Amino acid sequence: MSAYQNEFEQAKNDPQAFWETQAKAIEWYKFPKTILHKDENGIDRWYADGELNTCFLALDYHVLNGRADQVALIYDSPVTDQKQQYTYKQLTNEVSRTAGMLAEMGVVKGDRVIIYMPMIPEAAIAMLACARLGAVHSVVFGGFAANELAIRIEDAEPKVIMAASCGVEVQKIIPYMPMVNQAIMDSRWKPEKVIVYQRSQCPAELNASPLVDDRDVDWSAQLALSKPHDCVPVKATDPLYVLYTSGTTGKPKGVVRENGGHAVAMKYSMSTIYDAKPGEVYWAASDVGWVVGHSYIVYAPLIHGCTTVLYEGKPVRTPDPAAFWRVCQEYGVNILFSAPTAFRAIKKEDPEGELIKQYPMPELRTIFMAGERLDPPTLAWVEEKTQRPVVDHWWQTETGWAISGNPLGLQQFPQKPGSSAKPTPGFDVQILDEIGEPVEANKQGFIVIKRPLPPGCLATVWRNHDRFQSGYLTQFPGYYVSGDGGYIDEDGYLFVMGRIDDVINVAGHRLSTGEMEEILGGHNDVAECAVIGAHDDLKGQIPFGFVVLKDGHYSVDGNIEKELLQKVRDEIGAVASFRNVMIVNRLPKTRSGKVLRRTIKQVADGDQYVIPSTIDDPTSLTEIENAFNPL
Ligand code: COA
Ligand code: AMP
Repeated sequence: MSAYQNEFEQAKNDPQAFWETQAKAIEWYKFPKTILHKDENGIDRWYADGELNTCFLALDYHVLNGRADQVALIYDSPVTDQKQQYTYKQLTNEVSRTAGMLAEMGVVKGDRVIIYMPMIPEAAIAMLACARLGAVHSVVFGGFAANELAIRIEDAEPKVIMAASCGVEVQKIIPYMPMVNQAIMDSRWKPEKVIVYQRSQCPAELNASPLVDDRDVDWSAQLALSKPHDCVPVKATDPLYVLYTSGTTGKPKGVVRENGGHAVAMKYSMSTIYDAKPGEVYWAASDVGWVVGHSYIVYAPLIHGCTTVLYEGKPVRTPDPAAFWRVCQEYGVNILFSAPTAFRAIKKEDPEGELIKQYPMPELRTIFMAGERLDPPTLAWVEEKTQRPVVDHWWQTETGWAISGNPLGLQQFPQKPGSSAKPTPGFDVQILDEIGEPVEANKQGFIVIKRPLPPGCLATVWRNHDRFQSGYLTQFPGYYVSGDGGYIDEDGYLFVMGRIDDVINVAGHRLSTGEMEEILGGHNDVAECAVIGAHDDLKGQIPFGFVVLKDGHYSVDGNIEKELLQKVRDEIGAVASFRNVMIVNRLPKTRSGKVLRRTIKQVADGDQYVIPSTIDDPTSLTEIENAFNPL
């Protein structure tokens, strides 16, 4: 039996023994006696009686075990022209004082802290400081607007918000405090304090919001007065963080990540999936606002004793498409991980890969991609131009680590373009049809994971366990439903073909078309609407809205279209990339009134399609066909 097969079978046949062994790779205050059990809701929970602290594993452990002077975090910011490095010792000091600052504000184990920050070291420091106290962080991506922040404040009920005064995008500064003030005003829940990290590019006026006099605190001034704080032991099943992700409705889901399973999964993944060695340089070019940033900018590389790179910039335009290669060369990056869209952006601006040749990058071993389907042309281009193996691996906010990929630490499988290779040990991936029967090889269906899910995956949705049950577990008893469709071929390779719900991936960012429809539907002139994810060469998908106006309402010189675009930008944020909306007379629907979103998407993408026999009024489709395929 091959090394992979052996490990996969062990994890499948005796998960308790397998994950007990993996748990020994991290240090516990109290090693768990109970490895796996079902809780009162019938959910599988890992290491329930174990005690540990995730910040200790990521920092103090290494200071105590010979890595005090190794660089833990490299900050590289072409948008502000700054570079900075922290050794494990320095980072531990920063984090323990930041934890002290939070503790002095009354933050204790179990309290929530929202972190609304750009890609600066303080964002990672804030996360680790929360972990140190056993407080639960919830990072909100900087590209989200005030309304999205308000939704998260209301749901997470944070005692404190940690924010920066601004983010710096390509040649533009995004002030954060107006959004924080607005979000707190709009939310029923009010945090006690907002700690503001002042950036020289755009310092914020503190306590500028009406009705607020001493809510805002200057981060640096407060930190200077703060004492270091030790790690607080937590239970393995205590939450480390809540990360909100798009579902099918306007309300995002708070994915709850628990300390114990997460730490074990992070450690295991670094060697098994990435084949990373402690001491190596690992760079996930993503953002701490996404799950990739949580797992592979902050927690996994540090728990594994690697050097992590925190990059505040883009793959292109900061300043050019050589940015990735420059960083890899400058810091001796061994493993690079980003979304396919980033490489498509580079390819567009440097199609011949001329700039790659200027950076030999001798240490760079492997390039990993996730966040969206890796299209075969992008895979081929990156492999050819970099002469490095490229690994496509599939995962979700819910799982926190890769469900399938090429497990380089065990065995390297031959590449099959379009496939994220083999299920990771611990994930029993299967394909089911509508009635829950397994389908044969090469036949598409629902991608599901047979329970128990391995350590690290969500055990609930924050304060909404029913949503966890109904969204993931009810459709096929005994299985977790991923929301993706795809197939497994005759060699056991998994092909993820895309979402089967209302979630789309825009430049590797997960967004909900359902949420966009709710926003468009809230416009006074709109009778009904549909949003689909249309194919886009650069971003993979972009949202496209189709809107029917109320009788007697008309758009003059595109004024309603402009308002609709602005409304989505204001309520979700620029990151939605909502730039296309079309007013139509009718939406294509079935006779029972279901909008034919799939057919609309096929028309918009120029794909072959069959007009469904159930269509109510075929002329409703003609209007869209004519717009996309003018004669
Ligand atoms: N804060 C504030 N605004 C942000 C933001 C942030 N953190 N991130 C993006 N935005 C804004 C952008 O400035 C842009 O605004 P605009 O409409 O005013 O121009 C808008 O959101 C859309 O951004 P984006 O989708 O990133 O498009 P882009 O054209 O600026 O860049 C790519 C395209 C492909 C270069 C970029 O999306 C990228 O690097 N993607 C990598 C994907 C990634 O990291 N995914 C995470 C999972 S691995
Ligand atoms: P997120 O929760 O933001 O990480 O988004 C998860 C979703 O992104 C998945 O459900 C997939 O639809 C998509 N996705 C992530 N990685 C891949 C991949 N390697 N191949 C295909 N789709 C992917």
